[in-house]
Amino acid sequence: MLESARKLLPICLLLAASLLMPQRALAADSGRGRAIAERWCSECHVVGPEQKSAPNDQAPPFASIARRPDFDEARLALLVLSPHPNMPKLVLSRLEVADLAAYILTLK
Ligand code: HEC
Repeated sequence: MLESARKLLPICLLLAASLLMPQRALAADSGRGRAIAERWCSECHVVGPEQKSAPNDQAPPFASIARRPDFDEARLALLVLSPHPNMPKLVLSRLEVADLAAYILTLK
């Protein structure tokens, strides 16, 4: 009995350690990104396949942004953080930008 408990202990520790890994909590979440896009961006952009037309015809659909060869999280952060004339100033955290980028990349 005691012997088998000793054998299980390292396995339990490993499991506990993997559950506590910090990068799990920080990993970009495209589901959250989608929620942000629908809340903050769909006012002007086509943010997903269900949305048929862009409310603002100057705003590029997210699917076409996703297909740009140079698109990634860093680029999106730059685009969102640098204010441009027609876009309201949005305050997004780095984590939210990562989530958004992860979501936009699912539209490719
Ligand atoms: C009030 C309207 C509006 C909202 C809301 C809005 N955008 Fe935009 N966005 C625009 C317009 C218009 C353009 C194109 C004009 C331009 O490039 O200057 C644009 C362009 C962009 C571009 C491409 C920029 C480039 O240089 O090609 C990205 C990326 C972008 N928006 C991301 C977002 C994200 C992410 C959100 C939500 C967090 C958002 N936008 C919300 C109007 C909006």
